[in-house]
Amino acid sequence: MAPRFFVGGNWKMNGTLSSGKELISTLTGAKLDPNTEVVIAPPALHLLGAQQALQGSKIALAGQNAYHKASGAFTGEISVSQLQDASIPWVILGHSERRTLFHESDADVAEKTAAALSSNLSVILCVGETLEQREANESINVVVRQLDAVLSKVPQDWSKIVVAYEPVWAIGTGKVATPEQAEEVHAAIYKWAGEKLPKGQAEDLRVIYGGSVAAKNCKELANKPSIHGFLVGGASLKPEFVDIVNAKL
Ligand code: G3H
Repeated sequence: MAPRFFVGGNWKMNGTLSSGKELISTLTGAKLDPNTEVVIAPPALHLLGAQQALQGSKIALAGQNAYHKASGAFTGEISVSQLQDASIPWVILGHSERRTLFHESDADVAEKTAAALSSNLSVILCVGETLEQREANESINVVVRQLDAVLSKVPQDWSKIVVAYEPVWAIGTGKVATPEQAEEVHAAIYKWAGEKLPKGQAEDLRVIYGGSVAAKNCKELANKPSIHGFLVGGASLKPEFVDIVNAKL
């Protein structure tokens, strides 16, 4: 059986309390595909308000990042255990904006992933290559290197990890990967999972695509056999997010 379709909305550093509320009321008022799991990631400051606004809804919340230490003198950070304490079930880790702008290494992402899973969080683990790496034909090698780093810290259980393939050149650029380009890397990730994850886990792993997903391109992407959902940035701030959630209908 195909794994459950998953659509995440990464709001990044956008919006106000009131625009976030409005967006949530659009989502809770819409008819969403009951077979799709939906997770949204508002800015950290907005998470608790969003949690209240989502009461009674099946939409879950994610932090956009977290630090691996439980507590201490780490000004500006929030920890995986603080997310857990606040009943936020998901966290996005390894987003390319974290890797590029905030210099998070593969090892940092691996450490954070292991810590998040120990705090019982589920993880949207982002991987993907830059344009330069794609042009050098390195896409699959880069993604495998990023996944191997996490595997070295999380050797056993990937059941709470969703892998988001996000080619950096497609993020926020309007240049979506073609369904064939995305499918090729997703298939390589499944091959990797089949070879490296403990038996039986590759079939259940969800590999989702992110990078300029919009209402107009989501259905074609969703039809590809190895694409089991999306991580959406810009379009998750608009009512068209509903159409993306419903891409399989
Ligand atoms: O986390 C989401 C991705 O960075 C995609 O962003 O849909 O604005 O290209 P985008």
